[in-house]
Amino acid sequence: MTETVQRTLVVLKPDAVQRGISVDILARFERRGLRLAALRLMKVERAMAERHYAVHKGKFFYDDLVKTISASPVVAAVLEGPNAIAVVRMMVGSTRPHEAAPGTIRGDYALVGLRNLVHASDAPETAAEEIKLWFPDGVVSYTRDIERWMTDEGAPS
Ligand code: CDP
Ligand code: MG
Repeated sequence: MTETVQRTLVVLKPDAVQRGISVDILARFERRGLRLAALRLMKVERAMAERHYAVHKGKFFYDDLVKTISASPVVAAVLEGPNAIAVVRMMVGSTRPHEAAPGTIRGDYALVGLRNLVHASDAPETAAEEIKLWFPDGVVSYTRDIERWMTDEGAPS
């Protein structure tokens, strides 16, 4: 069976950068087999934060969320691979870190919702919109030789 190759947006939030674990978190995804398709360090302006979190407008945590993500630089990345959206969400763990399983990023490193380290796209439609918002100049398409040992490409021979 051939799995669907997807792209997903990951944002290592200000708490990850301030704690000095943003690249360690990114390394988990890369080690899993996902391919980096785009990467940038940036300070998020309020307008950008509002667009990114537009789906949460009106919720009780919206203002805190917008302030929190624009408080200090973030690392944004596009990751690519078979079922990338679900794979990354599983690795990130539950939104509320006290409910996140050990072994997940939030379950291993976070305690509270506003300091849960990572944003990850939750569906193909939101991933496409978010990638356009964070990487308006596009992403980089390429393959790695190792891919055939981690994906359906080249298997089972
Ligand atoms: O990030 P995730 O997709 O897991 O959760 P979300 O429902 O899309 O919410 C976005 C972010 O809002 C979360 O990652 C939390 O930082 C924050 N949040 C919160 O602080 N308290 C909640 N009850 C829900 C979300
Ligand atoms: Mg979300």
